[in-house]
Amino acid sequence: MAAKEPMRVLVTGAAGQIGYALVPMIARGIMLGADQPVILHMLDIPPAAEALNGVKMELVDAAFPLLKGVVATTDVVEACTGVNVAVMVGGFPRKEGMERKDVMSKNVSIYKSQASALEAHAAPNCKVLVVANPANTNALILKEFAPSIPEKNISCLTRLDHNRALGQISERLDVQVSDVKNVIIWGNHSSSQYPDVNHATVKTSSGEKPVRELVKDDEWLNAGFIATVQQRGAAIIKARKLSSALSAASSACDHIRDWVLGTPEGTFVSMGVYSDGSYGVPAGLIYSFPVTCCGGEWTIVQGLPIDEFSRKKMDATAQELSEEKALAYSCLE
Ligand code: NAD
Ligand code: LMR
Repeated sequence: MAAKEPMRVLVTGAAGQIGYALVPMIARGIMLGADQPVILHMLDIPPAAEALNGVKMELVDAAFPLLKGVVATTDVVEACTGVNVAVMVGGFPRKEGMERKDVMSKNVSIYKSQASALEAHAAPNCKVLVVANPANTNALILKEFAPSIPEKNISCLTRLDHNRALGQISERLDVQVSDVKNVIIWGNHSSSQYPDVNHATVKTSSGEKPVRELVKDDEWLNAGFIATVQQRGAAIIKARKLSSALSAASSACDHIRDWVLGTPEGTFVSMGVYSDGSYGVPAGLIYSFPVTCCGGEWTIVQGLPIDEFSRKKMDATAQELSEEKALAYSCLE
């Protein structure tokens, strides 16, 4: 079979910590598949240009067979030109004691200006994943200031929270993380998110069993588990004095891989996507939903029963996103 054409993948903030973990994963085929050649476009700001060049040198030194070229630049137009996938990591991370909202004013103005560059120069049908915080609201600003990019092509990362939820269940039950599926992260990538296990299952020797039936501790599932997942980003900042990087990079690869190559049969994942009003979530927010992906498109899983406990938590995180949206616009005035 003829070799595939290379795909161009943009990583902004590529000289930063997530960038440093992410670019080798992309070059190894973890994001787009072991048979998919890639050309990496790496963008950072002028003060980071020397470090960015160092990352480029390391990519060359690693001799990745799938890596067919590297563009390392501080020019946003050069960075965005012809890209098929854009992973937007560039921005300022949260420090200990800060909420994600606190990094709002610095980051939303970056996303407004980079929206225009992507709209004008990316390949048609470019898929965009926003990682930088506040991720949902940065993605919304990008969508609003790049009106010709279809809303189905703009998403934000909540797969890290999803994976954190899988990890907590797997530790609690002492089962393989790959045997746990269909947790849901609803809402914002923030401490208001709602990690929901009501539809999650575990593969056992006697078939798939609901997580609630196996854990047998609703008090933990409704309180400790939720708080641990909501606060995991802060716990990592406290421990490392830096925000999560390897898990963020790995989850960004999971997000794009499933979006491009499809989710396994019977499995859904969490993605921050433009709300169409499903589950009573106000339209016009980028909100994390359970989705399945097929043929390069995501679809919100419909018809899941929502109890009163979940409803309240889903509404609270939607409310926070509406407030963030208003705050973002006030920062841009
Ligand atoms: P970092 O500070 O190590 O790296 C950020 C990089 O972005 C730096 O190299 C910086 O120079 C660059 N940058 C700043 N402004 C830029 C611009 N206008 N254009 C291009 N590059 C620019 O930070 P990090 O730890 O890599 O985190 C990056 C972002 O990801 C932060 O906002 C962080 O809060 C967020 N994050 C999100 C998730 C998630 O799950 N959504 C997880 C972890 C971190
Ligand atoms: C995370 O969830 O690890 C990141 O969003 C970093 C943060 O600010 O919590």
